[in-house]
Amino acid sequence: MNGSKNLIELVGVSKYIKGYRILENINLSVREGEFLSVLGASGSGKSSLLYIMSLLDSPSEGEVFFEGRRVDFKEELSYIRNRKLGFVFQFHYLVPELTAVENVMLPMLKAGKEKGESLSRAKELLRSLGLEGKEERKPHQLSGGEQQRVAIARALANEPKAILADEPTGNLDSKNSKVVMDIFLKLKAKGITIVMVTHEEKLARLSERVITMSDGRVVGESVP
Ligand SMILES: Nc1ncnc2c1ncn2[C@@H]1O[C@H](COP(=O)(O)OP(=O)(O)O)[C@@H](O)[C@H]1O
Ligand SMILES: [Mg+2]
Repeated sequence: MNGSKNLIELVGVSKYIKGYRILENINLSVREGEFLSVLGASGSGKSSLLYIMSLLDSPSEGEVFFEGRRVDFKEELSYIRNRKLGFVFQFHYLVPELTAVENVMLPMLKAGKEKGESLSRAKELLRSLGLEGKEERKPHQLSGGEQQRVAIARALANEPKAILADEPTGNLDSKNSKVVMDIFLKLKAKGITIVMVTHEEKLARLSERVITMSDGRVVGESVP
């Protein structure tokens, strides 16, 4: 595994919203293939940080590098977001009118993948996450844990380099949280970079490296 190459790097990143500073001088690298957790209390700035790492939001100050290249937030970034990154949120944001398999197909179709190919890959992803037989169900016909696994399958659709997850188990019981964590550990073993935001130290400790945030700043780093 290439442990030295940075996939995402933040240099001197600060974020202000309405004159209020929510991130202060963040310097942080995510190495290719690592499983990094961002730990912190509610309001410490974890989501804001993850949005910037996901290239979904721009910093007010500082720079972001992706695969060694400086990101210009004025440019169209949907290609990187759709092909190289996968997102998982606390609430899954699946499309309620679509079935599980259609939800997983969506990013592939958006990326121009042929329908039959998208369907077979979507089915394979759902099967690999233990959702065989549930392909035709709509989100409301699935449990919370199953919905979150569909969301992970969707995030994996275009074979991203990294999965960025914001409190992915925040809405799940401990059994389903463990299922999600096991999936992340398996993906990491396959070489996929994982960045997980959580307020639960117990979960963060299952990753390889933990960044601790407080009041918009990185206040610690540890290896569990
Ligand atoms: N769009 C926004 N407008 C105003 N304040 C915001 C906005 N987004 C986040 N904040 C504030 O920034 C701080 C960090 O928020 P957030 O990144 O969501 O923290 P966390 O994910 O750790 O709970 C909080 O005090 C929050 O209220
Ligand atoms: Mg948050």
